[in-house]
Amino acid sequence: MRGYVTDRAAPGGLRLEGDLAQPAAGMEDLVVEVRASGVNRGELALLEQRPDGWRPGQDVAGIVVEAAAGGGLDGHRPPQGTRIVGVVDGGSWSERVAVPLTQAAVLPDEVGFEAAAALPIAGLTALRALRAGPPLLGRRVLVTGATGAVGHLAVQLAVAAGAEVTAVVSSHTRQATAAALGADHVRTSVGEGDGPFDLVLDGVGGTLLRDAVRRLAAGGVAATYGTLGGAAPLDLADFAPPDGKPGPWKSLVGVFHAHPSKSRGEDLATLAALVADGRLRPHLGSVRDWSELPETLDALRLRQIRGKAVLTIPDR
Ligand SMILES: NC(=O)c1ccc[n+]([C@@H]2O[C@H](COP(=O)([O-])OP(=O)(O)OC[C@H]3O[C@@H](n4cnc5c(N)ncnc54)[C@H](OP(=O)(O)O)[C@@H]3O)[C@@H](O)[C@H]2O)c1
Repeated sequence: MRGYVTDRAAPGGLRLEGDLAQPAAGMEDLVVEVRASGVNRGELALLEQRPDGWRPGQDVAGIVVEAAAGGGLDGHRPPQGTRIVGVVDGGSWSERVAVPLTQAAVLPDEVGFEAAAALPIAGLTALRALRAGPPLLGRRVLVTGATGAVGHLAVQLAVAAGAEVTAVVSSHTRQATAAALGADHVRTSVGEGDGPFDLVLDGVGGTLLRDAVRRLAAGGVAATYGTLGGAAPLDLADFAPPDGKPGPWKSLVGVFHAHPSKSRGEDLATLAALVADGRLRPHLGSVRDWSELPETLDALRLRQIRGKAVLTIPDR
């Protein structure tokens, strides 16, 4: 079986290995023939941190070639031939990978493998960050990095949930893209006159997160999932209710895509259903054959990709 492994001596630190051991199904793991996989910004760091021989790749969309011996949390056991989307800790930039049942969902017929591969890490992060706040109907939500892999899904999910959404983009050249996602307002910074927001979703950090926290309503929540622009220079006073009025203080919550762990498959099923009914449209900024992984990683490093980067593995 072929798959990528880390190798510091190879160009770009990755080598396509031709003779990897086949993954095996277990009581709680099925084996998938991978058709598409995502490339995540966090993986750029993992590739540098992990030792030689590590098998990268976390997003997976493909076909079950070996069913699990047991059933998942709900007793369901997708049989051979089922199209699924899943998330793994590593090894999805390979022809086959084992996926725990609790981290997989059956794909509706309407959802292609490429769109599905955009969902796992980015979609779980967006969905779980949105759940960090109050019910969204009629609430004001701010999303930073709104044209990125997580941000563009977060904007659409917040719109679908009935929120009034403000999208923050990195420059004016990104404004039309954010508006097309359905955002009610598009900004390149956050300041006086914006908000007050009930929920902020942030993957940028730095002064942008500080400014967003300052524009939270009393009791509002800022969900942070990334610090692309560095640490936020926040002070206790930033969390006080606005205008010196009495009221609940604001809060900051960290979000990790894999937490809670046991409901990842359930949440992936929710995301896939939203794609199937057209409320969520993953924007695939880069779709390349997996032989072009080095080029995809370079484009991600250079911030050339909007939306999600996806690799395809041809039918074998
Ligand atoms: N906590 C978790 O579980 C989790 C899961 C997924 C991602 N993350 C983290 O969340 C962050 C966003 O992830 P992503 O996959 O959405 O990344 P992405 O696709 O690269 O999107 C990042 C977005 O932020 C914008 N941005 C604004 N300031 C930036 C800066 N200083 N540097 C780089 N980009 C900046 C980018 O604008 P341009 O269009 O101009 O590039 C882009 O729209 C990353 O830090 C990632 O590691 C965390």
